[in-house]
Amino acid sequence: LVVDASDSSGRPIPDTLFGVFFEEINHAGAGGLWAELVNNRGFEAGGTKSSSNIAPWTRVGKEQTVFLQTELSSCFEQNKVALKMDVLCDNCDGVGVSNPGFWGLNIVEGKKYKVVFFVKSNGALEMTVSFRETKGGRILASGDIIGSASEVSKWKRMETILEAGASSSYSSLYLTTTKKGVIWLDQVSAMPVDTYKGHGFRSDLVNMLLDLKPAFLRFPGGCFVEGETLKNAFRWKASVGGWEERPGHFNDVWGYWTDDGFGFFEGLQLAEDIGAKPLWVFNTGISHSDEIDTKDIAAFVQEALDGIEFAIGAVTSKWGSLRASMGHPQPFDLNYVGVGNEDCFKKNYQGNYLAFYKAIKAAYPKMQIISNCDASSKPLNHPADMYDYHTYPKESQSMFINAGVFDKTPRNGPKAFVSEYALTGEQANYGTLLGAVSEAGFLIGLERNSDHVMMASYAPLFVNANDRQWNPDAIVFNSFQVYGTPSYWVQFMFRESNGATLLKSQFQTPHPDSVAASAILCKNSQDQKSYFKIKVANVGKSPINVKITLKGIESSNVAKATKTVLTSANAFDENSFAYPKKIVPKRNPLKSGSTEINDILPPVSFTVFDLLK
Ligand code: AHR
Repeated sequence: LVVDASDSSGRPIPDTLFGVFFEEINHAGAGGLWAELVNNRGFEAGGTKSSSNIAPWTRVGKEQTVFLQTELSSCFEQNKVALKMDVLCDNCDGVGVSNPGFWGLNIVEGKKYKVVFFVKSNGALEMTVSFRETKGGRILASGDIIGSASEVSKWKRMETILEAGASSSYSSLYLTTTKKGVIWLDQVSAMPVDTYKGHGFRSDLVNMLLDLKPAFLRFPGGCFVEGETLKNAFRWKASVGGWEERPGHFNDVWGYWTDDGFGFFEGLQLAEDIGAKPLWVFNTGISHSDEIDTKDIAAFVQEALDGIEFAIGAVTSKWGSLRASMGHPQPFDLNYVGVGNEDCFKKNYQGNYLAFYKAIKAAYPKMQIISNCDASSKPLNHPADMYDYHTYPKESQSMFINAGVFDKTPRNGPKAFVSEYALTGEQANYGTLLGAVSEAGFLIGLERNSDHVMMASYAPLFVNANDRQWNPDAIVFNSFQVYGTPSYWVQFMFRESNGATLLKSQFQTPHPDSVAASAILCKNSQDQKSYFKIKVANVGKSPINVKITLKGIESSNVAKATKTVLTSANAFDENSFAYPKKIVPKRNPLKSGSTEINDILPPVSFTVFDLLK
């Protein structure tokens, strides 16, 4: 590899190139990034017809002592279901309900939790709110809630802060009483007090995103946006305003109820919190199984326009004022919208798309609009600023070779947004080294084509290990642990590429199908110094000798180069909760001469050489 580092030898890489794609899949939001501990907090998940399906809530006490049923009696108009608890015993052991959250609440000694719920009773209220270990009932935190008969004769909001005196990662929230009477409950929430910036996000998961320095955040899907059926698609208006007012909905593509605590506002807020530009994907009146005709699409178009107004409109506008009332008077930095997800070949897509395109460009001429139709090999027949490209090969070779997919794309059409890529299938399993290195080869190809590819994101981003709807994923977590798969670490190793300069380099190899390389000049975010970064992906089964000749680089800096390697003993090795750091980038000084680097790269490895400018 000959790298020309003279000043005039490069071309800028877009500062938007590498970002992240958050989808409500695998309990990424509900039971994940959104720090709400209670699952099905409004008792709506069973629907209004299966009246007493309140799972995962369960009764505390015997059937003779407490009888549970749901009723359409809530004070919240959009989510009428409430829980009615007939307590039949007096001076009984605490009876009531408990909720195990999402495969166990993680309660940590010394941490504070805010518990809020709405309650009504036919007499004075005496309740205990506690966190207890699910097996065995050890009490971790507890507090009393009381209300006079007149106070609770109508729905009343109750709030308490519980400080945990002990820890358990498998605990439940208990709401119990010892007093005979009738109690109605609704919208029960328990959140750690120390969420990221107080915005309701799990800090450990946000930190994983921050470490990637993502330029953009695409959200909230994916298929989640489409829905299996339109009636269950994500609709932004039902996901904003006070959390207790939100109806929630059944995420029918990925098979779980979500209270929509992580809604449209939270997506925009998360993007801002991680320093990324939001990229909102909305429904175009098309789900996996039903479609709205273009002649009837006006209401969906208005909904998209209203969503943009919510994000960036003035505080005096109808939807901008709602955003302000939620605590964000300043407009969010929304410049990109995706018109649907993977819908190009649906009957009404092209017609619907044009209706959205015309209306959005008329109202917001600078908004960048992304079509679902792939223009990598043939021009689009409709206007767009970008087109969405997804790739999920099942062979590492295909992933690697796909690096060249944009080499021949004409440069006079819309730019490319590679919004979903990943190796999938047996070779990728839950996230293998082989998959990650093949993706590194693909990303080197995207860097090379970054005069055309403006944005790229891996998918899916998150998986709660208790609900693997899609494998592999970048970040694996449960209620108390988190780790990055090798694919996460490849993204980490590309994080300095946004806004860097792609250097001219000549790369010769007898193995073009398994070795790829690129060289960039970038600013290191930690020491703010300029570095040359030379990346080499070797997806082959043999070690390779690499010789890098560096033109225009100080010899003393060549001698001080470092190399960071992502590899492992076996191509199919993975990280896990037991071994979360089995495959992570390891950085070491490089033994090299003063004018060139000679090194041996392990089989199935991704290496980054860093040299101070
Ligand atoms: O990333 C998982 C899914 O793959 C997305 O929801 C969808 O857009 C694609 O088919």
